[in-house]
Amino acid sequence: MREKKLFTPGPLGVSLSTKQAMLVDLGSRDLEFIQTVKSIRSRLVELAGVSSDDYTCVPVQGSGTFAIEAVFTSTIPRTNGKVLVLENGAYGRRFGQILKVLGVDFKILTFLENEKVDVGLVEETLRGTQGWTNVAVVHCETSSGVINPIGEIGRLVKECVPDASYFVDAMSSFGAVDIDFTASKIDFLVSSANKCLEGVPGFSYAICRKDKLTGCKGWSRSLSLDLVSQWETLEQTGQFRFTPPTHCMLAFKQALTELEEEGGISERRKRYKENNRIICEGMKAFGFKTLLDDTHDGFIITSFHYPQHDNFNFKDFYTRLQEKDQVIYPGKVTKTDCFRIGNIGHVFPRDMRYLLQCVQEVCSDMGIPLPLKE
Ligand SMILES: Cc1ncc(COP(=O)(O)O)c(C=O)c1O
Repeated sequence: MREKKLFTPGPLGVSLSTKQAMLVDLGSRDLEFIQTVKSIRSRLVELAGVSSDDYTCVPVQGSGTFAIEAVFTSTIPRTNGKVLVLENGAYGRRFGQILKVLGVDFKILTFLENEKVDVGLVEETLRGTQGWTNVAVVHCETSSGVINPIGEIGRLVKECVPDASYFVDAMSSFGAVDIDFTASKIDFLVSSANKCLEGVPGFSYAICRKDKLTGCKGWSRSLSLDLVSQWETLEQTGQFRFTPPTHCMLAFKQALTELEEEGGISERRKRYKENNRIICEGMKAFGFKTLLDDTHDGFIITSFHYPQHDNFNFKDFYTRLQEKDQVIYPGKVTKTDCFRIGNIGHVFPRDMRYLLQCVQEVCSDMGIPLPLKE
């Protein structure tokens, strides 16, 4: 099977050595495995830039959505729970789907998909209605690439509703985009193994304020997604409650070593930003237009409008790129036809330059002259 280069929001490419780290079978009670889980949990708290006195990391088996669902099901009070969701894209809307399934009271405050969450409107809502117990927002809305102002929102939440839990979905941003946990007043944040930290898919994690987490004991409506029980068992025995993602954990340990070798989060951010600069400049030189204007500074993923040319057909464009082992992604915004190119995972500036060369060849093969006409 040929290796493909993934320029997607996930699953993302990972290094060969990270994949090779999985070639060992370990039992869930193996001391080596227990030690691995412990070190991963404490390393994630360190990467969050917070003290282990105040925060803890709870890994959850499954993809990123499992950790999101675990936070919601575990942290919304059983009685009088009321959640404010700030939504400007598909992942914010998914919060709504989860809350509907949980049958809790919630309101979705919707913003334009190509704009950041408007902090002024959030303030109006927080001050205008009483009883919010939880506020949730997506940091990097991967459907568009917009980075939301989680710091301003968090400070507002704590000013207007000091007892509410503030939850940030930093799935595609944690480990690359700067997040000041303390200044942003984050109580719960989730991400997953196969995003900016470049492990293989298979588990996600929540970084939780300990006092908030312990205050939620007994609230979960789910057995397997109960964050408090998961945390208690990990603390008491070092083990997961149910079959652990042993191979994924071993890969993640290797991925964290490789993050360190790269120079930590700041160097990874530099690489991703450089990937983003190359792809944006190159695509713009070809005449493609980005969905977001220059006021946005996200670098995780970029949405490009479909070119206005009769020969352009996304499926054909995608398939031809795929035949060259280059995997891009369809758009996920509702009102505009877009496709997306991701800059994260085990991809480097040389890969972005090669992708541009492939885009040029594919456009030529499709009879779409570059640069595109206005
Ligand atoms: C911001 C955000 N939230 C949630 C998810 C869902 O994660 P998963 O598909 O791993 O369940 C993603 C996936 O890319 C994401 O980018």
